[in-house]
Amino acid sequence: MSVSFARVEAILERFPPSPEHLIEALQGIQAEFNFIPPEALRAACQHVGVPESRGWAVATFYKAFRLEPKGEHDISVCMGTACHVRGAANLYQKFRRQLELENEEGTTRDLKFSLSKVRCLGCCSMAPVAKVDEEIHGDLNQRKAGSLVKVLEREVEP
Ligand code: FES
Repeated sequence: MSVSFARVEAILERFPPSPEHLIEALQGIQAEFNFIPPEALRAACQHVGVPESRGWAVATFYKAFRLEPKGEHDISVCMGTACHVRGAANLYQKFRRQLELENEEGTTRDLKFSLSKVRCLGCCSMAPVAKVDEEIHGDLNQRKAGSLVKVLEREVEP
């Protein structure tokens, strides 16, 4: 994914060009792109006058920063014990196939979906469970997972 230099410049102009504004500049970039593209991180470092290595150190230290693109919809499948016992691994693979995701976790090429594994989501009685954006879906099975993705796909169609 390439980002527009003009968009990055417009964001950086909002922050004074000094090292103490690095974190704010990175937050501004993430707010705009939903992650921190490498070229934008480089531009932020130049703007505030710190070495690129410092920018990477900060961006990788704070969990709030994302260095990978995030999809419009975020699907987190619980792999905790209760969900595992009730078929979470198969459920996860169903989501992967449905989204045609090449890697084990990550974001689809069209940036519509991100899929990841998480630990207990705190609603084990509804296992197996997945969180889609901010909503918990329990008692899932492969059929329900398939329909869930289809519904979301319709929402994000242009
Ligand atoms: S183990 Fe999945 S919600 Fe607790």
